[in-house]
Amino acid sequence: MQNADYDEIINNAPCEGRERQLYFIDKCHDIIKERELIKGEKLTFHVATFGCQMNARDSEKLAGILLKAGYVFEEDEKKADIVVYNTCTVRDNANQRLYGRLGTLCGIKKKQKDKLIALCGCMMQEPLVLDKIKKSYSSTDICFGTHNVYKFAELLYRRLAADGQTMITEILDEAAEIVEELPVKRNYFFKSGVNIMYGCNNFCSYCIVPYVRGRERSRSSEEILCEIRNLASDGVKEIMLLGQNVNSYGNGLKGEISFPELLRKAEEIEGIKRIRFMTSHPKDLSDELICTIRDSKKICRHIHLPLQSGSTRILDKMNRRYTKESYLALADKIRREIPDIAITTDIIVGFPGETKEDVDDTIDVINKVCFDGAFTFIYSKRTGTPAAAMDNQVPEDEVKLQFDRVLEAVKETSKKMALKVEGQVQEVLVEDINRQDKSLVTGRLSNNLLVHFPGDEALIGNIVEVRLTECMGFYYLGEQV
Ligand code: 5AD
Ligand code: SF4
Repeated sequence: MQNADYDEIINNAPCEGRERQLYFIDKCHDIIKERELIKGEKLTFHVATFGCQMNARDSEKLAGILLKAGYVFEEDEKKADIVVYNTCTVRDNANQRLYGRLGTLCGIKKKQKDKLIALCGCMMQEPLVLDKIKKSYSSTDICFGTHNVYKFAELLYRRLAADGQTMITEILDEAAEIVEELPVKRNYFFKSGVNIMYGCNNFCSYCIVPYVRGRERSRSSEEILCEIRNLASDGVKEIMLLGQNVNSYGNGLKGEISFPELLRKAEEIEGIKRIRFMTSHPKDLSDELICTIRDSKKICRHIHLPLQSGSTRILDKMNRRYTKESYLALADKIRREIPDIAITTDIIVGFPGETKEDVDDTIDVINKVCFDGAFTFIYSKRTGTPAAAMDNQVPEDEVKLQFDRVLEAVKETSKKMALKVEGQVQEVLVEDINRQDKSLVTGRLSNNLLVHFPGDEALIGNIVEVRLTECMGFYYLGEQV
């Protein structure tokens, strides 16, 4: 493109916000249309998500922008004209997986010169990562971080309009503005994540999230409820309210309602049948929240309550601000008030200085709470976090030994809890055709357990009654009644 045209288009753009991004989507569309004519077919995109539900939701936004700009979806990233990797850096293995896939993609790009590679998300917020990308994966086209996902169209336009290979990078230290209501391509027509807050203020000593996602910022409840109403009128039945610590929703927003109040207001919205939320920090979980779940017809019988460790000594070093005893008391209260609730958790094994006795405490909590499920992680040293500088990093073989003990304990309790509903008839939201056996569909109970039962595509997105005939440990086989 001529420089004068480019300058004019940039200069004519609305100053900020949604209008600016819609303008750039339009400008991308013009270029993509031209290339489509030359190629003789539609240009294609692929967005791959690493990491958590927050990233999954961001990826839906990225896909929405790409569709609107004129691309069509391509299943195979090797073939797509543009590939976006939405990265995660919570543990090192996520980083390594990204480098592996990116290496392959850069290799393909040597032959497919017009292919575009965009990287975004948490990894990009780490200066060392960006240096490595620039040095070792220099055919990457666009890099942006967690604070400017909404600006993807603008960055894409700059790359599309540039002559030759220039890497466009824009990494912000904090969010300049929160721009919502851009196009979104939901992965499921019947369920959706809804961001209620961004960032985290907790600074658990092992965790990189506060550094890469910034300080906690809540969205206004009015905006959130408006989004949910729109989703409901678009056919969405299940929503998942998303935040690193939903229990501190509204902190810092003057006159804003609390998280339980937000849940109650969401419950009033017609068409929404199920409400989930993620994640709850145990230190902030209020009695009001427990009562709200207990009294609700729509809030699902599932709470994810990361324990991290059962040892008060380690919890203190982790800066979690609760003790083994207070966690147990909280879990007990939840089980007492809402007997049919499933409690799942996250556990880290191998935090610096952790001994076998500390892990005994973790296993004690697993058995006492009788977790319905748990994600167990081996501690991963994250540069820049306080824990990375701690003495007594635990040797790998010792961690593995303790990790297996924790895994075994969790397997036992989750099997025991799953068995409790055998033979019952429960409501299931059907999500997909079963991948292994196409004569089955897969759905979820309110308590988040998966169930597979005979059915076809027409059931997807419906809530149906299913008898849970056979417990397979972590999931059920069933039949529709
Ligand atoms: N090492 C291992 N696991 C971690 N998590 C967060 N940071 C680390 C780390 N450095 C886990 C915690 C958190 C989940 C999302 O990831 O268990 O709850
Ligand atoms: Fe990380 Fe702790 Fe924040 Fe969760 S609450 S994102 S573990 S710092």
